[in-house]
Amino acid sequence: MSAWIDVGAPAELEFRPGATVVAAGRRIALFRVGDGYRALDNPCPHAGAALADGTLLDGKVACFLHCWEFDLETGACDVGPEWNVRVYPVRERDGRLEIEVEPEVAPD
Ligand code: FES
Repeated sequence: MSAWIDVGAPAELEFRPGATVVAAGRRIALFRVGDGYRALDNPCPHAGAALADGTLLDGKVACFLHCWEFDLETGACDVGPEWNVRVYPVRERDGRLEIEVEPEVAPD
């Protein structure tokens, strides 16, 4: 069952261009896009660079290390679907940002 996790007020977060936050044990890159926010897994699936430190393009973030691109809406990777990252719903409530995250399933 998913839960909305408070990750702070926008003014508390450092967007460069993404802000790295932790929710339910996951490192998530949070981006300000237009008048809303987008959230996706922060570690790049290629070699682990922080997508929060990438370059924002039109609706995508390009990883700073090898320039793979990820769609901010879907997490789709331009290199192939096996490299897609998870995306997360974001909402603003009472001046704070919340990300909806499924809890990690502990391995047996
Ligand atoms: S580490 Fe992101 S593209 Fe290589």
